[in-house]
Amino acid sequence: MKQIEIKTAIQVYDSMDELPEVERQLLQKAHDARNHSYAPYSKFKVGAAILLNNEEVLLGGNQENASYPLCLCAERVAIAAAESQFPNTPIKLIAVTAKSFNKVLDQPVSPCGACRQVICEMEYRYKQDMKVILQGEKGKIFVLQSGKDLLPLSFDGSAL
Ligand code: THU
Repeated sequence: MKQIEIKTAIQVYDSMDELPEVERQLLQKAHDARNHSYAPYSKFKVGAAILLNNEEVLLGGNQENASYPLCLCAERVAIAAAESQFPNTPIKLIAVTAKSFNKVLDQPVSPCGACRQVICEMEYRYKQDMKVILQGEKGKIFVLQSGKDLLPLSFDGSAL
């Protein structure tokens, strides 16, 4: 038996002011993107902002439905918008924030498993890591260098 260890490095920042300018600006846009959220059922508003290799920025907010399983996460809304409007353009960075109706969210939001898999798909597709920036409504910020840090052993289409 051999054991393999997979390590994840997370950079932790105490405030937005500590971030490099490009990342700080994108995180601010992810906060703004919550205005694009439609979350009348969960009252949990998520905002995502994406920076493409061509420097375009695309926003997404979660889009809910009375038929709950149809709800779309902000991350996947933003990625689909980006890849629809700028096809074949790799994604450099994604920033995600969230605000809950029930409590002050001072911990970074944690993207769901489906969104992690979609982020990894973009990395496989473009052979380029996507940096991930996470914050709640306020408080500390997590920065991960790649979607693979969020989802080790993601499903890779090359297995098909
Ligand atoms: N949500 C996202 O938008 N992104 C995530 O990564 C986690 C969950 C949304 C889906 C739903 O509209 C609400 O948050 C509550 O689950």
